[in-house]
Amino acid sequence: MTEEKIRKYLTPRFEKRIRRYFLSLTEDGRERCFSDIDHTIETLSKEMGKDVKETRWIIESIGLYLTSNAGKNFYADYQKIPLAGGAVLWTLQAPGGGSIHLVQTNEGKLLVDCGYGINYEDWCRTLEDLGLSGFSDVKHLLCTHGDADHIGMAGNLPCASYMHPVTKQLLDDGSPGFAAVNDYPELVRTYTFSINTISHLAMPKQIIPAKTEPLRYRGIFPVIDEVSFAGLHFEVWESKGGHLAGQLFFYEENEGLLFTSDCLINPATITKPRRVFGAIPNYLITSANINSKLAVEERKALVSAAKELDTELKQQGKRLRLCCGHGAVSVFDETGNMAVADPVMHYARCGAFSEMVHQKLMQLSWLVRKMTLSFV
Ligand SMILES: [Fe+2]
Ligand SMILES: [Fe+2]
Repeated sequence: MTEEKIRKYLTPRFEKRIRRYFLSLTEDGRERCFSDIDHTIETLSKEMGKDVKETRWIIESIGLYLTSNAGKNFYADYQKIPLAGGAVLWTLQAPGGGSIHLVQTNEGKLLVDCGYGINYEDWCRTLEDLGLSGFSDVKHLLCTHGDADHIGMAGNLPCASYMHPVTKQLLDDGSPGFAAVNDYPELVRTYTFSINTISHLAMPKQIIPAKTEPLRYRGIFPVIDEVSFAGLHFEVWESKGGHLAGQLFFYEENEGLLFTSDCLINPATITKPRRVFGAIPNYLITSANINSKLAVEERKALVSAAKELDTELKQQGKRLRLCCGHGAVSVFDETGNMAVADPVMHYARCGAFSEMVHQKLMQLSWLVRKMTLSFV
């Protein structure tokens, strides 16, 4: 006899509304996923006192935000930074998720991170519009870490994905929960599976694992490997794993580019809709970091190492650019704060936000205000 499906918190109406975000799953897979989401809502309600209706709406809003800002509503903010030898660094920010750092050279493209899979077609068209002729000549993809907003298009690209072996382990496992220092690994597992599915994560088809033996140190960070391409030489730094186990930073010394991933961002450059969307993990899994205390220590150490590099580079008439996991590429200003030196330009498919998207974002921002109050 088939066991009767009993879910306490997912109403049939709600399931019907979110079903469209989980169509890539088999019927059985979707049933399991919905049962896990039901359990998440129960945990958040019973153990953290969160409102059931609010939690349901926040889960739905992930799909709503990502699909509402794709296709004709897609937009991006970008910086175009000339490098030596005619190469150009394009830092591309989608409506949601991490930045894509695209280095265009006369030997093809190198990417550091590649955003959500759901935006693959959007980016193909955007690159054409920006005169960058798509992804067919991408020769290297350097992945900073295994979150869907940084590796989402990996399987769509015509090259292998370079990553820390722990990131591969984490992708194989399906969750960073095994490495998380919080009391709710099941919430992390369900969230990771859900966001991977909703955002159309295209798993890498081929992986190049980073070497892991320390060659030397930059501050507290071991330099574990090096990657060269088209006259650029990237040092690979191993993080301490405060944000996510297996996170890497990349440093290109000649150009003064430090790719800081989600360890260091310039919050002032994150627009309000992106900030609202980016706050969702805090609500659903308590923090976007697997070890918040370590993440704070690690950020301080990265800032300190970055400032040291900036001082060295200034002696050569250069400066360090912080190519952050989210938001704009920034520099340290004369007071030591992060500031934007390269202009940020806007690209929009339909010229402006549609009214519908704008309204949805306003609803989301109301929720985040409410969430913020409930954290105090
Ligand atoms: Fe991220
Ligand atoms: Fe992340």
